[in-house]
Amino acid sequence: MKDIVFATNNEHKLSELRQIMAGKYNVLSLADIGCNDDIPETAPTIEGNAMIKAQWVKEHYGYDCFSDDTGLEIDALNGEPGVHSARYGGVAHDSERNMNKVLRLLDGVPMEQRTARFRTAIVLIMDGETHQFEGKVEGHILTERHGAGGFGYDPIFKPDEADCAFGEMSPEQKNRISHRGRAVAKLTEFLSTRQAH
Ligand code: IMP
Repeated sequence: MKDIVFATNNEHKLSELRQIMAGKYNVLSLADIGCNDDIPETAPTIEGNAMIKAQWVKEHYGYDCFSDDTGLEIDALNGEPGVHSARYGGVAHDSERNMNKVLRLLDGVPMEQRTARFRTAIVLIMDGETHQFEGKVEGHILTERHGAGGFGYDPIFKPDEADCAFGEMSPEQKNRISHRGRAVAKLTEFLSTRQAH
């Protein structure tokens, strides 16, 4: 079975991808290839950051690999937090601070102007070629938290095609329509057309 590196150490994402690619690809994490580097995510776009991570693994470790990067784009905030989604509240991966900041900045903004979307960019480097896949989901930012499921901004994001927040959904419900679920579906469809050697 062919090895492929997923440029992450996020256990949740890894187990999801390992399940999807079981029997076809052996999905390795950054830790699995001995990479403990603090990969600089300095690009101004999520596509750029996904590219940096994938190229880093290829150049420094020689593996074919893919990486993902996600941003929440809120129209009333000119697309913010976007590429800054992980540390919008000032502390990396502190979801409570991130949500508080968004709710504060949108205080008083009517629902019809609270439009937003999650976008995931995936970059795959394989057999000397680079491929990009995008997944997105349109929705609205709620005025308060709903549900305790998921992570990040899930309790304050309601997809337009559902009648509850991501935070109120089971992982299966969310993955079916989520930005990352859709980007991963495109990646796996592409990989399935390239049968591993
Ligand atoms: P990452 O690029 O996947 O690490 O995502 C960056 C940040 O976006 C995370 O730290 C979260 O705050 C937010 N985020 C990413 N995916 C989701 C999601 O599915 N739901 C809610 N927030 C998310």
